[in-house]
Amino acid sequence: MATLESMQVSEEQQSLIMEDVQVLLPNYDDFVEDVLQQFMEENPETFQIFPWADASKTAKEMRSHPRFKSHAKSIGKVISDCLVDLNGVKKHEPKLSSLGAMHTKKKVPTELFGKLGGCILTQVVKRVSEAKWSEEKKEAWLKAYGIITVMVTE
Ligand code: HEM
Repeated sequence: MATLESMQVSEEQQSLIMEDVQVLLPNYDDFVEDVLQQFMEENPETFQIFPWADASKTAKEMRSHPRFKSHAKSIGKVISDCLVDLNGVKKHEPKLSSLGAMHTKKKVPTELFGKLGGCILTQVVKRVSEAKWSEEKKEAWLKAYGIITVMVTE
């Protein structure tokens, strides 16, 4: 995987991301829960990975589970902390360094982090008006999530 140093975002990319973050913030909990629901729907193996997930239920039904909500919140917190200053994410390292080890211990395959990024992108696109979406934004988001993935997996 690329190093953080080679993954800097431009000022333009940082402000494109912030434009979308402003759209997400008023319903942020809903946004991250939609991300986690979509992630579980598209990757049913996650029902075996999350100890709290009940395979006899749908991802939508799992949404009311407190552990679903807390994991969604955890994901949301890390994402928002990182998004506001993508080139300065290293300052979160002390807090995040144990996260990667914890996910490895829980046998979370690294490729699932990439799948989660796809869900984030889909949910962002759903919320940002078509007129405000662009290829540049997509590129900025992919880069942003790449940076976040390095932070939580290494
Ligand atoms: C940016 C991405 C992610 C962040 C920031 C994150 C954060 C966390 C945190 C803080 C915990 C501790 C308990 C909690 O808050 O619920 C946790 C637990 C866990 N995470 Fe993640 N996570 C991420 C992605 C993933 C992915 C993609 C999976 C794949 C299935 C995953 C699976 C788990 C499992 C199995 C646990 C332990 C069991 C549990 O407490 O639910 N996480 N995660």
